[in-house]
Amino acid sequence: MAEKLKILKFPDPRLRTVAKKVDKFDKSLEKLTEDMLHTMYEDNGIGLAATQVNRHIRVIVMDLSEERNEPRVFINPEYKILNKESLASFEEGCLSVPGFTEEIIRPDKIELEWQDLSGEFHQDTPDGLLTICIQHEIDHLEGKLMVDYISPIKRDRIRKKLSK
Ligand code: NI
Repeated sequence: MAEKLKILKFPDPRLRTVAKKVDKFDKSLEKLTEDMLHTMYEDNGIGLAATQVNRHIRVIVMDLSEERNEPRVFINPEYKILNKESLASFEEGCLSVPGFTEEIIRPDKIELEWQDLSGEFHQDTPDGLLTICIQHEIDHLEGKLMVDYISPIKRDRIRKKLSK
């Protein structure tokens, strides 16, 4: 049975940890992704990084489908920006910054590489929401949050509200 994990909330300093690469593709990795997917679905998120559940390894889960039935797992994901001038703006939310959304601009032409649960490598040049979402989640693995993209004044306001 999948367990619901506790999600760290901004400004928890553990969200600033840089995640380590996964090198063991074992049962415990599979269990973590099942628990993360369960947690993400329970909280109506579209993506979740291991950092957010206080596990500091490079693991991301996601489901961008409307029916919520296309779970995806990215292990050790990396991306390369293919065109720095091609940008997209999207109203982003984050389970670690509950109750807030912010318009964030990101490159939308990227090349993505990752491993699956058996350690096999995959490559894709995604478009649409996946492009945005994977950058948001990889930011988490680097200890970066969507509030880092907004003005310090706004960030402080959010910090005060969530610290209550
Ligand atoms: Ni997030």
